[in-house]
Amino acid sequence: MKRIFSGVQPSGRIHLGNYITMKNFVNHQDDKDCFYCIVDLHAITVDQDPEELRKKSIELAALYIAIGLDPKKVTLFIQSQVSAHAELAWILQCNSYMGELNRMTQFKEKSSKKESVTNGLFGYPILMAADILLYNTDYVPVGSDQKQHLELTRDIAIRFNNKYGKTFTVPEPLIRKKGARVMSLSNPENKMSKSDSEKFSSITVLDTSKEIKKKIMRAQTDSDMIIRYDEVNKKGISNLLTIYSLFSNYSIEELEKKYEGIGYGQFKKDLVEVVINELEPVKDKYNEIINSGEINEILKEGAIRANKISKEILNDVKNKVGFITEF
Ligand code: TRP
Repeated sequence: MKRIFSGVQPSGRIHLGNYITMKNFVNHQDDKDCFYCIVDLHAITVDQDPEELRKKSIELAALYIAIGLDPKKVTLFIQSQVSAHAELAWILQCNSYMGELNRMTQFKEKSSKKESVTNGLFGYPILMAADILLYNTDYVPVGSDQKQHLELTRDIAIRFNNKYGKTFTVPEPLIRKKGARVMSLSNPENKMSKSDSEKFSSITVLDTSKEIKKKIMRAQTDSDMIIRYDEVNKKGISNLLTIYSLFSNYSIEELEKKYEGIGYGQFKKDLVEVVINELEPVKDKYNEIINSGEINEILKEGAIRANKISKEILNDVKNKVGFITEF
């Protein structure tokens, strides 16, 4: 079975865009050996409140299970509970170059707004490479913003293999199709974002039905009153159509037909119902796993499995670079 690895940051609340990504993860679980990692080591590359971070890591894991990840099929774990990640990251840091990290556009973006930048933020892509390479990963499902990091991962793997002999599997990215991009409800020029401070811009999975309704009814549209997909001139409506389509069995074309001659008000009301119907059972399941403590058991099992597998590759690496692994 081919292996998949992906990491998700335990930061911010999970909005519809993240939800779609997470569902995508769930779809792989039946025909691939999946490793999903809550990357708390990555999270601390920027300032975090310790209690909040702990809480968010557990919440994210529980949400994955609520969305449909089956812990019997998938290895779900928290990055900091598998020390091989930090260890391999160090070794890879010593086999990577300032120049290649300096070219990372995400680092440039993230650091340009900051007064001070940690060394960890600079080395972020190397830790990501370590995550992936520790599991002989075949495929890495990511958003297009992570493409450059994946290319760096491949470069590092190939370079290491050339220097020390075949060690790592060189992973392939599975870049998500652009069509699935969910935009901000209040400003559809921008992606729906965890960090957007505008209250009505994003719907989160744990929002109450009342909040969901309010946000959708207030979503920005236009004044020509035609429900048609047009990413250039009708960004708001196009985004709502995207969400509707992602949350129902209708394609965008079918929705355009269904809503011919119907006003935005009715369209939005229907969308409210579609979104609420999808998220209600997720919320119930989420509360159940958090309250029962089941999530702790799942994460414990996940860490045991991840530790076991990553240790083999880490040992191989340690031997190759000249560490003493056995007396
Ligand atoms: N950098 C990724 C993001 O922000 C998260 C991540 C960390 C990741 N390690 C990974 C993704 C390994 C894929 C594989 O989205």
